[in-house]
Amino acid sequence: MGTVGTGLSMSLDGFIAGPEDDVQRVFAWYFGGDADYQMPSGTMSIKISPASADLLRRVHESTGALVTGRRTFDLTNGWGGRHPLDVPVVVVTHSIPREWASDGSPFTFVTDGVESAVAKAKDIAGNKNVGVGAASIVQQCINAGLLDEIHVDLVPVLLGRGIRLFDHLGIEPITLERTRVIEAPDVTHLTFRVVR
Ligand SMILES: NC(=O)c1ccc[n+]([C@@H]2O[C@H](COP(=O)([O-])OP(=O)(O)OC[C@H]3O[C@@H](n4cnc5c(N)ncnc54)[C@H](OP(=O)(O)O)[C@@H]3O)[C@@H](O)[C@H]2O)c1
Repeated sequence: MGTVGTGLSMSLDGFIAGPEDDVQRVFAWYFGGDADYQMPSGTMSIKISPASADLLRRVHESTGALVTGRRTFDLTNGWGGRHPLDVPVVVVTHSIPREWASDGSPFTFVTDGVESAVAKAKDIAGNKNVGVGAASIVQQCINAGLLDEIHVDLVPVLLGRGIRLFDHLGIEPITLERTRVIEAPDVTHLTFRVVR
């Protein structure tokens, strides 16, 4: 059985997007390195450091499904029909967009909450891992105790305003064990295990 974990780029002051959903600064590390890295879908190429490329390759090979929120899905226009990781995506929403919900689509729309969405993604992923993205979904997953791992790509910028990742948490303190630190010139990859 795989793990359920986050994978988000975050500013040092905790934002995964700036005002008006601007992700340019938090994703700057995707375009500042020397190594060409082809995303699994083959539809997107990025330029990152060798250390980041090595990590992304391992993360991408071990990811079997993603869970995200409807805003992220809409903002990316369903990633043009196929997520760059080329894995099925479970979208949490209050209303199913019929134009996207066809047979054979890589998108599954779930209207009964994050627990159901994560269960669906685990089914799809089999032995592989489930990646959870977008702020509101991560927050609900933390509140519901659904995460095994928290991974953030920490970007050296202070955004001041925008969408905070660790917001709206109604929790008692959760102990984390730091399991991996990878330093790259323009990003620090941090992974923590949720201690239960
Ligand atoms: N830095 C990164 O790595 C990264 C990665 C991904 C996204 N982002 C950014 O994160 C931002 C989006 O995050 P967000 O938190 O604002 O939005 P989100 O999580 O993508 O989507 C929120 C929406 O999902 C639906 N939803 C959430 N929980 C639900 C529930 N329990 N039941 C039913 N529907 C539910 C609702 O939409 P409906 O009511 O319309 O159905 C809600 O408005 C964007 O700026 C995006 O660019 C950053």
